[in-house]
Amino acid sequence: MQCGPQELGSVVLSRPGPTLDNRAGVPLAALRPSEYTAALIQALRARRTVVRDAYVLEIGSGSGVVLAALADLGAASLCGIDIEEDAVASGTLLLDELGHGERAEFHQGDMWRPVAGRRFDLIVANLPHSALVDAHVPGRRATWSEAGADGRRLLDPFLEGLGRHLAPGGRAYITHNGFVGLDRSRRMLARAGFTLEVVLTTLVNLHDEKLARMTPGVLAAEEGRTIHRHGPYAFAELHIAEIAASAAPSRQLRRSGSPRRAARDRSRPVDAPS
Ligand SMILES: C[S@@+](CC[C@H](N)C(=O)[O-])C[C@H]1O[C@@H](n2cnc3c(N)ncnc32)[C@H](O)[C@@H]1O
Repeated sequence: MQCGPQELGSVVLSRPGPTLDNRAGVPLAALRPSEYTAALIQALRARRTVVRDAYVLEIGSGSGVVLAALADLGAASLCGIDIEEDAVASGTLLLDELGHGERAEFHQGDMWRPVAGRRFDLIVANLPHSALVDAHVPGRRATWSEAGADGRRLLDPFLEGLGRHLAPGGRAYITHNGFVGLDRSRRMLARAGFTLEVVLTTLVNLHDEKLARMTPGVLAAEEGRTIHRHGPYAFAELHIAEIAASAAPSRQLRRSGSPRRAARDRSRPVDAPS
């Protein structure tokens, strides 16, 4: 049990929420959840049966709040990966504080590397995927937003790795900006035997700092399509995409699909209540 404030790199965390240390160079506020985070959690909250008992992986776990929400929805285990050391510390602390520490593991590393050879029932990601010529958005680290001029620098390797890390019958849920090419993602996934279905679409504010850094060619091509301007204000279509194998096996097969779940289930009939 934690009593007083705890040092975390250049920040101090204290209940009930994170507060900045006077010495803070990079504030923990850099990991604050966004509208994208909220939309992803909303879609997952509507899918409790998919989450319950699932072995979950999140790539780019940031504050850890998406995994915390999944823990509350009954996930069996939670694995978070982030390139930033502070994000790993923040996620670990959050899950511990909420009483989910024993089900959780966090790794600092690049994309799929820390989980080579492992498969998960449910994979979630809200990776950087904005088309920016300059990722230094005020108040965030560059790694929060750095996705290349077309926005796909992380999205493409994420989609390519899914086949090696989704358990049979597993599902992935990701945030996907409309302006980075939903059809391109669909085609990539189709070649690997997956489908992509949009399960939620919402508008997110393209604030001035982001708008000023967006790739001009993407802005020009997407205005009036997936980006909507009203005077000085602009909004972008954000999708939550569900990715699954093209011919999803039955629920019964799915339940025994995960290696860890299969190992656990060997000791009882598949139809027995959990
Ligand atoms: C847009 S933020 C989302 C954070 C969190 N999932 C949320 O929704 O609040 C993207 C996260 O991906 C992490 N990230 C960036 N590049 C990464 C990489 N190559 N491998 C793993 N994580 C990465 C960033 O540090 C950041 O925490």
